Amino acid sequence: MNKILDGKKLANELNLELKDKIELLVDNNKIRPKLATILVGDDPGSKVYVNIKHKTCAEVGISSVMIHLPADISKQELLDKIDSLNNDNSIHGILLQLPLPHELGKYTSEFIETINPYKDVDGFHPINRGKLFDYNEELVACTPKGIIRLLEHYNVELKGKNAVIVNRSILVGKPLIFMLLKRNATVTVCHTSTIDIESHIRRADVLIVAVGQPKYITKEKIKEGAIIIDVGTNRIDGKLCGDVDFEDVLDKCSKITPSPGGVGPMTINSLLQNTLIAYANQKSTK
Ligand code: GUN
Repeated sequence: MNKILDGKKLANELNLELKDKIELLVDNNKIRPKLATILVGDDPGSKVYVNIKHKTCAEVGISSVMIHLPADISKQELLDKIDSLNNDNSIHGILLQLPLPHELGKYTSEFIETINPYKDVDGFHPINRGKLFDYNEELVACTPKGIIRLLEHYNVELKGKNAVIVNRSILVGKPLIFMLLKRNATVTVCHTSTIDIESHIRRADVLIVAVGQPKYITKEKIKEGAIIIDVGTNRIDGKLCGDVDFEDVLDKCSKITPSPGGVGPMTINSLLQNTLIAYANQKSTK
């Protein structure tokens, strides 16, 4: 049995479908969807991620612009920049790359709240997070959206399953709570203060891990037949690897995402999908 949840393959297929859909939209509306990303500072990892986002936008026919600002920009200057993108009708989606450099990081919530919720392709705005609380998944965070899409594509049944998330961030863990609950999983969230985290991990029918520790999950830690979603991307000796020791757990799990090549490409596809939702929002709110 093939155990691989092949995010790269599915994302490529979905991107091709999107490309056709976008050409039709552009033919009909004479307006091309456009995404603006804001990158503050020069963090090499963030730069790589933002560049991949722009490259994939180009591949499917979404135009995009990167606003690259210096790390020492003032809070007001960044708020003004977001405001000008909110008021620019040619921009449909806005993505503020996180984390922000140290000083500005303190105001992350304020920046997110300034983004027009209809243009919020990250799904981080309190209005979009609130909608998710009601199981409304119009604009939801890209990584959770990609994970759920991948599980659904492979017909993974979530109803009644013990889903254990090892992460509680707004990017991954928190949105997943509601998306998994909506699908009738029993959800446990583990974090840095969880006592005996391994006992929770061992009970997981579906295990979603984003801890940023290379090969943290080994076969001794998992349940026989577990479905494993590896959100981690780490580098050991220049080589990428996930938070899961893929080779070690492969025999014992029933399904697994590789890393790289699993969740990452699905996250990018979700960003493209969200940009199209934001594009439709703008047409309907004009
Ligand atoms: N940094 C890491 N992942 C993400 C993401 O999905 N969105 C934003 N805005 N920043 C990130």
